[in-house]
Amino acid sequence: MTLPNFNELEKKFFEKIQGVQTLDETEAIRQEYLGRKGIFSALVDNLKALPPEEKQKTGKDVNTFKTMVLDRINQKKSEFELKALEETLKKDKIDWTLPSYPFMPGKSHPLTQVMGELTDIFQGMGFEIAEGPEIETDENNFGALNIPDGHPARDMHDTFYIHSATDDPGSKLILRTHTSPVQIRVMREQKPPVRIIAPGKVYRHEAVDATHSSVFHQIEGLVVDKNISFADLKGTLEMFTQRFFGKNVQTRFRPSYFPFVEPGVEVDISCTICHQKETHPHCPVCKGKGWLEMLGAGMVHPNVFKAVDYDPEVYTGFAFGIGIERVAMIRYGITDMRLFYENHLDFLSQF
Ligand code: PHE
Repeated sequence: MTLPNFNELEKKFFEKIQGVQTLDETEAIRQEYLGRKGIFSALVDNLKALPPEEKQKTGKDVNTFKTMVLDRINQKKSEFELKALEETLKKDKIDWTLPSYPFMPGKSHPLTQVMGELTDIFQGMGFEIAEGPEIETDENNFGALNIPDGHPARDMHDTFYIHSATDDPGSKLILRTHTSPVQIRVMREQKPPVRIIAPGKVYRHEAVDATHSSVFHQIEGLVVDKNISFADLKGTLEMFTQRFFGKNVQTRFRPSYFPFVEPGVEVDISCTICHQKETHPHCPVCKGKGWLEMLGAGMVHPNVFKAVDYDPEVYTGFAFGIGIERVAMIRYGITDMRLFYENHLDFLSQF
């Protein structure tokens, strides 16, 4: 058989493509060349009869030619399409130059922003982020944290119980009432040293009002190693309050009780609204107390270490739990927590 004459083929193709007047005509040429029974399938069929050395070279030429044909056809098609669009636009009565409706770029919710800032601060101090599920076992949320069944501390943590067939605290499921069960999960997974924070949602059976919500957010912290002392706890939390609220903020540690720490404290900061100045009896945020309660903390209780198989004679540690809504309210002087959840843009777009 004779080899295809590419010069001839190309010349013919160019004559055709230059002559087309419409999109349909271009499509017809595409069919003629690239369709199933088109010129190219014939060329490829003919290749089969060639001796191997020529087959390779001619095959390449066929491909080059094909790419060229395809490019040219596509180019023609775009030309026609553009022309059609221009004509529609000309006929159209729409004024494309009218300004559009104002468009507000989205941003993260203030609670998400605060959560991000807190995690940044602690990550800067070398903490890693840990996570746990919102549906927890009774055992992780209470038992392993030294809050056995019937313990009065459970009263404050009434929650939503999820139906389970057994009474075994390891499989009884609840919505977690604090992020502290993440402490248990982490310690059961890894050996000391531990230095983690665990941000997330928590749930309690609360009547919703200006300062309570049945869903809210906490960030848990846990440090365990040899020779961790209360001084480390104080230093860490003071560093945190200064980074978050500013250098002039004072911190106060008050004795308090949480079953999973000993000793336990609540940490207050000096009121960031009235700064404990003369006007403070009327301060809307601290109500004249001059101090704002901010978080719970303490040294990890030996019973907690026993529950996770850490030797309390070898290791010590501290833990803290910060309410995200609380710190956000303090920082921005917000007096009603419900504003965070109602999702009015007037409120949210201020942050
Ligand atoms: N989990 C406690 C609460 O939600 C806070 C806390 C965490 C206290 C860690 C001490 C240590 O009330």
